Amino acid sequence: MQVIIVENKKQVAEKAFEIIKDTIQSKANPVLGLATGSTPIELYQRMIQANEAKEVSFKDVSSYNLDEYVGLNKDHPQSYAYFMRENLFNHIDINQENTHLPQGDVADLQAECDRYDSLVKSMPADIQVLGIGSNGHIAFNEPGSSFESTTHIIKLTKQTREDNARFFDKAEDVPTHAITMGIATILVAKKIILMATSTSKADAIQQMIEGNVDTDCPATVLQNHPDVIVIVDKEAASKLG
Ligand code: F6R
Repeated sequence: MQVIIVENKKQVAEKAFEIIKDTIQSKANPVLGLATGSTPIELYQRMIQANEAKEVSFKDVSSYNLDEYVGLNKDHPQSYAYFMRENLFNHIDINQENTHLPQGDVADLQAECDRYDSLVKSMPADIQVLGIGSNGHIAFNEPGSSFESTTHIIKLTKQTREDNARFFDKAEDVPTHAITMGIATILVAKKIILMATSTSKADAIQQMIEGNVDTDCPATVLQNHPDVIVIVDKEAASKLG
């Protein structure tokens, strides 16, 4: 695991962008694994800016996302599909047919999990972007999730629902379940960049880097992946020894 500590959020985004740009420019048909949440927003803004400046093109890029809320369709403003269009896809030259998210509003959720898992494994990401939950989750693999897990439905913990309530009008509107790539599915990526900012992530970052590999902190599994770059600001790194 390579750990890069920078001053602030902007520099976290810039570092991540540089790595993504290098990959996009060195592959004919690059595949990006993408995340939602607050952490990657500045990265996505940087990608948009670079695309507008013709510094980088996404026209040959395919993408898949980590997760989606169960019960929300792709046009629901709090769905991750909507988030991705608003924060990235609508503003860059990517072919939106090549962008993939799990569908949270289907009748047969297990069939959707299986479909999505096969899709991801058929096109392993050249780079997977990850954030981290304050409880150490990656995607929505909450503490206790098996390291062998494939794409599955998960009941969100109280803490994750509270953390994400800021995006909803009312706390009770936060869905109770999500469809998430499993830990084994995430690890098929060739390279992983995990970004974290602010003191609210300091414990999780300390545990992920210095703790034992244990399902109590799902992100510790990244110690087993051969190519992981952790990019953190000073606050998120504040508990590292
Ligand atoms: C999002 C995701 C989550 C977030 C994590 C951190 O697709 O899978 O694991 O990366 O909850 O969220 P933020 O960035 O909002 O702190």
